[in-house]
Amino acid sequence: MDQKELKRLVGQAALAYVKPGEILGVGTGSTVDCFIDALKESGIEVPACVSSSVRSTKKLQDYGFRVLDLNEVDRISVYVDGADEIDPQFCMIKGGGGALTREKIVAMVSDTFVCIADESKKVQVLGAFPLPIEVIPMAVRAVSREIEKLGGHPVLRDFTTDNGNKILDVHGWQLADARAWEEKLNQIVGVVTVGLFARRGADVLLLGTQEGVKTMLA
Ligand code: 5RP
Repeated sequence: MDQKELKRLVGQAALAYVKPGEILGVGTGSTVDCFIDALKESGIEVPACVSSSVRSTKKLQDYGFRVLDLNEVDRISVYVDGADEIDPQFCMIKGGGGALTREKIVAMVSDTFVCIADESKKVQVLGAFPLPIEVIPMAVRAVSREIEKLGGHPVLRDFTTDNGNKILDVHGWQLADARAWEEKLNQIVGVVTVGLFARRGADVLLLGTQEGVKTMLA
C-alpha cells in the first residue's frame, strides 16, 4: 500500500470515534481530507463541526456540513487530526500544513484527540521534520535570532497563516524532552504558537501500516 492508501485507511478508521449527534472537531491536512471524505460517505449524523482551518472549513461546507465558530461551542468530545511526527509518548510535531495555532486551540477544548497518521510519521524522537513555529510578522527576525541561540536553524516559509502570521520551520533540533521544549519556545516574545503538541498530545493513535490500521492508546 502506498502512503495515500494508508491515509485513506486511517481516515476511514477514525469514523469509529465519531459520536453521532455530537459536535466534532476536525483538523487539517491530506489525512484529514481522507477522513472528511469518509465522514461524508458514512452518513453519520454530525450536527456541526469545529474546524482548524479555512481549508477544512471549505471542504466540510462543500459537503454540506455545518461549521461553527469555536466561540459558539463550550466543549468538543472528539477531535480528529493528523501529525507530521508522533513519538512514543504521543507528543507530536504539527503545522506542516500551517494550521498549528487553530489546531492547538481546538485540541485544547477537546476531550479526546484522535491522531490519524501513516506509519512514516511514527518516530522515536521528534525533530527530523522541521518544527513549525507561527510568529507575529514584525517579530520574524527577532524570533529567528532567539531560535539560533538555541541551536536551531529557522527557515521562513513562503506562506501566511489563516491568522495573518508567518511560519518559521526550524531545522536541526532533536526534541527528546518535547514538553520542556514546548514550554521554553512558548516563552519567546513574538511566538504565537509552537508546533509541538506535548502538553496536549494525542489520546489515541490510529496508525496506517502495511499490516492494516493499528490502534494505540496513550
Ligand atoms: C497541518 C497539520 C497536519 O496535521 C500535518 O501537517 C499532517 O498533514 P498530512 O495529513 O497532510 O500529512 O499539522 O497543520
